[in-house]
Amino acid sequence: MDNTNLENIISSEENDFFHTYKRLPIIIERGEGCWLYTNSGRKILDMFGGLAVNVLGYNHHAMNKAIEEQIKKYIHISNLFYQEKQLELAELITQMSGYSKVFFCNSGTEAVEAAIKLSRKFFLGTGKRTLVSFSGSFHGRTMGALSLTARKKYRDQFEPLLPDVKHLEFNSVESLEKNIDENTAAVFIECIQGEGGVNPAKQEFIDSLLKLREKYGFLIAADEIQSGVGRTGKMHAFEHFGLKPDIVILAKGIGGGLPLGAILGNERVQDVFTFGEHGSTFGGNPVAAASGIVVYSELKNGLMNKAGEMGELIISKLESLKMKFPEKIKSIRGKGLMIGIELTKPGQTMVEMLMNKDVLVNCTNENVIRLLPPYIISEKELDFFCNKFEEAMAEF
Ligand SMILES: Cc1ncc(COP(=O)(O)O)c(C=O)c1O
Repeated sequence: MDNTNLENIISSEENDFFHTYKRLPIIIERGEGCWLYTNSGRKILDMFGGLAVNVLGYNHHAMNKAIEEQIKKYIHISNLFYQEKQLELAELITQMSGYSKVFFCNSGTEAVEAAIKLSRKFFLGTGKRTLVSFSGSFHGRTMGALSLTARKKYRDQFEPLLPDVKHLEFNSVESLEKNIDENTAAVFIECIQGEGGVNPAKQEFIDSLLKLREKYGFLIAADEIQSGVGRTGKMHAFEHFGLKPDIVILAKGIGGGLPLGAILGNERVQDVFTFGEHGSTFGGNPVAAASGIVVYSELKNGLMNKAGEMGELIISKLESLKMKFPEKIKSIRGKGLMIGIELTKPGQTMVEMLMNKDVLVNCTNENVIRLLPPYIISEKELDFFCNKFEEAMAEF
């Protein structure tokens, strides 16, 4: 496709779509491993993994095979039926997470909605109604999830949202102690905030939250949509903090690229939903579940540990770059392959400079370069990234 064609595509998009996405002006033809290939012959290292989704990279042989086999059997039969692939995936997830129950849906925001409903039903008739989330959080864009999303730019135009929601200051023990009480039903937390700038929780903050749960009995729902499914070198980011949430919220990497989300629940909440109280036509689609089985099998076979090791390696390389450019890099944050490079000034130019050097990254919260690469990334590819990052930093 030549440039005239690209111009045509841009103008068609402008005409035909609601203007919700700012697209990159390149056309991707295919992906292979951690690389994207454009129609003009460019090869781009994908350090963003389809926004934390493509955990096994592109054109993964076992995943393709599992999807193909399932497609030949059936692509959808509805949740009226028992489904072998859902069952197999649920077995793997419960085994590997230690949680006793799973509900499948199609996306992150839907999984958050399921967790909100579960919390409401759990405390039905008790007067406990308040849902809590934190400054800088992102939990999705449907009206319930959006009520929890604290960042103003996402919610301002859509009020009124759900009542009885409080946004407390992230990492402030004082804010927790002042605002959590006997009316608190559930606390929604990203132990490492993603959109908020790859911000990890402080241990004292989590410890205080746990003490308050003991005192007041509210539920804790960990939003692991971005940080879960092995990304940080553990199954879920909350494991780094000794937190045991009652509800775990998953999406993105769980289907390895096909739409899938889930909530997991512990013994406290396992019997809350009864028939018909929650559901989804497409939730747990068998093709997506077949793909998810490959994701969890690979994690079990060592990929999760590899993500942790590769994460440590890249973080140490980035720490050296921080020493080299102390006036440009403020901090390196995150765990495993969920990494934020906080710059001392806005980072969008850095994203563009890296794209010109055939590296795809993203900038979140104005000045944080965010890396969410596939877990299959090799040391050689990390070196490629670091060299390009260093070159770009010198020019930035
Ligand atoms: C932490 C977190 N929660 C919720 C969501 C919403 O997920 P989805 O876009 O699949 O609805 C996202 C998406 O970026 C996320 O990062």
